[in-house]
Amino acid sequence: MTPAAKTSPPWPADFVWGVSTSAFQIEGATQADGRGPSIWDRRCLIQGKVAAGDTADVACDHYHRWPEDVALMKALGVDAYRFSVSWPRVLPRGRGGPNPAGLDFYDRLVDALLEGGITPWLCLYHWDLPQALQDLGGWTNRDCAGWFADYTTLVARRLGDRVGHWLTFNEFSVFTMFGFAIDWAAPGITDREAHLKAIHHVNLAHGLAVQGLRALVPGARIGAVHNRQRVFPEGEREENQEAAALLSEHWNDVFPDPQILGFYPPRTARLIEPYVRAGDMARICQPLDFFGLNHYGPIFARADPGWTWGYAWGDAPETRVRPEIGWAVFPEVFRDELVELTRRYRLPVFITENGCGGGSDAPDPTGAVNDPHRIAYLTLYTEAMKEAMAAGADVRGYFVWSLLDTFEWGSGYGQRFGLVHVDFKTLKRTPKASFDWYRALIQARRGQ
Ligand code: NOJ
Repeated sequence: MTPAAKTSPPWPADFVWGVSTSAFQIEGATQADGRGPSIWDRRCLIQGKVAAGDTADVACDHYHRWPEDVALMKALGVDAYRFSVSWPRVLPRGRGGPNPAGLDFYDRLVDALLEGGITPWLCLYHWDLPQALQDLGGWTNRDCAGWFADYTTLVARRLGDRVGHWLTFNEFSVFTMFGFAIDWAAPGITDREAHLKAIHHVNLAHGLAVQGLRALVPGARIGAVHNRQRVFPEGEREENQEAAALLSEHWNDVFPDPQILGFYPPRTARLIEPYVRAGDMARICQPLDFFGLNHYGPIFARADPGWTWGYAWGDAPETRVRPEIGWAVFPEVFRDELVELTRRYRLPVFITENGCGGGSDAPDPTGAVNDPHRIAYLTLYTEAMKEAMAAGADVRGYFVWSLLDTFEWGSGYGQRFGLVHVDFKTLKRTPKASFDWYRALIQARRGQ
């Protein structure tokens, strides 16, 4: 009996089961058919920013192998697929003339998904800003909000007749904090003012994009992907408490609060004021259909005056490491977060990412890839989600990160999150044991 078959009570029949990926992490073909460079192509070239000097030039070569990947999803039996459009693939210079070959690629992908009975969930921004826009200041330039709105219009006009589920941005606070305050992502700036400007301009871009989508795609279901993860102070030191409170505000609140509640949280409101113009808050706060949540585990914060905002990443207590997983995991924090989220924002929630990494997944001598740590993690987290639903959380769907092993940003190819193993030399795909586990869970729901 699989762990999935044991779960009870059953999942709701209309619960959405899916998988997620992102363009930069899987497509490869970074110089093919007119694609322009992105800020992450640039970052990969800077020594020391990506483990082992890895680049995403080939990645999973999904740009050429997408039919195989769609077939894998059909075999998995998912209802939905969350992917992102690469802005520099469809607009090589970020604005101006579009790239027809880039648009054709997403056209074919969407058609194949629909033919396979898989609902496309399209995310407009998963961190790969066109480098040409970065050269003009990127997200620190207020005009970037308008460029994003124009890009949204282009994609909506081309795909809006077939794509009904739209996500504006992926993990707002990760790419703004790590891109503008802590140098862990592109463009790698560490400056408080740049961070505040980026926060506000990205919020504005989100609001303008939602307005554009509502006008162009009647009946669209529109949301965004937030990464809410509770922040705890590391250990007992008192100064870690304030570090945790500020980090929590930047990580968890500065995007969903203005977008859904209409105001910035207290520590940020005064500092961000110089960048807020009349009418901005109304533009940012647009009605949404759901809340997308990416969640992996809580964060531990430590005070450190050497870091841009005085907070640094701390360590989780060793005692919480689960030997069968190899990480400290906190499914009860996930459960509580879901209940809290439903109360605070009053929107249906879709888990747009949850998953388990690990560097060592590899085929055994028979060719099978066994990943019991991932099955253990996903079992704990899906059960916690069910507990949250029983306690009142309005959760409507769950997407595993990820379908494939991917280019994992600063970790390069050294962290594997996939349900499908990718051999990055031969590009061979091999479904892992967790693929079968997930398929069984989905089938049990359908009573197959
Ligand atoms: C969050 C990001 O959205 C995704 O790009 C990343 O690969 C996963 N989490 C795992 O770290």
